Amino acid sequence: MPGISDLPIIDYSDPDYQSEPFRWLAEKARQFPMARSERGVEILEFQMCRRFLVDRSFGTDHGNLVEKMELPPGRALDFKRRMILTQNRGETRKRLRGILTNLIGPAYARAMRRDISGVVSDLLKGLPDDVLDLKYGLTDLVPAGVYCTWVDTPLGDARFVADRSEDVLAIFRRDPDLTPSIVDAYDQLFGYVKAQLARRRENMGDDFLSRLIRVREAGNLSEDELEDFAVMLIEASTDNTSNQISIAVDRLTAMPDVWKEIGRDASLASAAIRECMRLWPRSISTSRTALTDTEIDGVSIPANTSVFASFGAAHRQADKFSDPHRFDLTRPVQPPHLNFGGGAFSCLGQFVATIEVEEAVSQLARRYPNLSMRRVEREFTAMFQTITVIEADLRGHAAAMV
Ligand code: HEM
Repeated sequence: MPGISDLPIIDYSDPDYQSEPFRWLAEKARQFPMARSERGVEILEFQMCRRFLVDRSFGTDHGNLVEKMELPPGRALDFKRRMILTQNRGETRKRLRGILTNLIGPAYARAMRRDISGVVSDLLKGLPDDVLDLKYGLTDLVPAGVYCTWVDTPLGDARFVADRSEDVLAIFRRDPDLTPSIVDAYDQLFGYVKAQLARRRENMGDDFLSRLIRVREAGNLSEDELEDFAVMLIEASTDNTSNQISIAVDRLTAMPDVWKEIGRDASLASAAIRECMRLWPRSISTSRTALTDTEIDGVSIPANTSVFASFGAAHRQADKFSDPHRFDLTRPVQPPHLNFGGGAFSCLGQFVATIEVEEAVSQLARRYPNLSMRRVEREFTAMFQTITVIEADLRGHAAAMV
């Protein structure tokens, strides 16, 4: 049976990847369904990605990443070893995932739409009639602001929440030089979360944090796990969502007719965001580790190999998505995009995140129908698309508040 060394090589440091990452990936996928790169095995073909995401011979890769990053002993390392992302299938994962699904699953997300809409509209009211750093002034603050409503703290904490989320997610850069700043950010987050928990326990309410404390009181979470959840939700919810909002605003304002249409008819936001997540996903790939010696499509994969499903490649496959590079508001819902992964490890916040992006885009388009970006800088790693700079000129562009 062929092995990994027989696979073609792809190199993410290729300058063409930086300039046209999704066309680059699509072209590789047109030539071969699987490849190898510096980080491991890459699955490029859509159906193979979907099968792989639910394949029980693969588990989470997060533990390997944590080991590679050499976190020193302490709260951050304990958290990383215990958190849901590091748990493979088994009782602990089942229990943690069950709790989170109840707390932030589809039913909760639907009920949250009104609150999310309120956070966005409060933030829009505060925007200056000026040149705006959109990431700093808005897109970071939407998910971080939603987190603030979860823990019932003032929106003023949103900046801290957003910045620390970005700091800790730097772990996916796989660069051990970043470890000290990641550990420092976790220390700050645990301090913050402990203070919020103490405050909440003196005055329990109906907010998310109070509900989490009740799960603890019912004996389904240890005290460490309770703190872990509160920190993990900052980590997982903020930076990814902020980037996906920035990506959507950048790409949709580059199509002024589409942008105006969404501003006139908010019901188009759902299809527009789905198409943005297909064409320009925040998550370009997700990872797993082979739990045993196994195989993918006739290629033997030894235990402990890191394997990546490349959404960036799969989303542009012509026999799955006709005219795949075209933005199409009428594209069928099936097959789905893979921006949130799949199977037992799929993103638990996908319903909340999608509503956040939809609300941010539709309200912004309604208030600023002529919005255009002054400057946008993007960075592409093998894992993520990140908007590092996004500046909008809001001077004189606001429509009357509705
Ligand atoms: C647009 C924004 C977001 C994107 C693109 C995103 C993407 C992802 C991806 C790709 C995974 C790994 C899935 C897999 O490997 O199959 C993941 C996992 C996860 N995400 Fe998200 N996410 C987003 C927002 C959120 C939000 C808002 C929350 C929480 C409210 C959240 C919570 C989680 C959790 C808890 C996991 C781990 C699930 C597990 O291991 O069982 N995410 N996310």
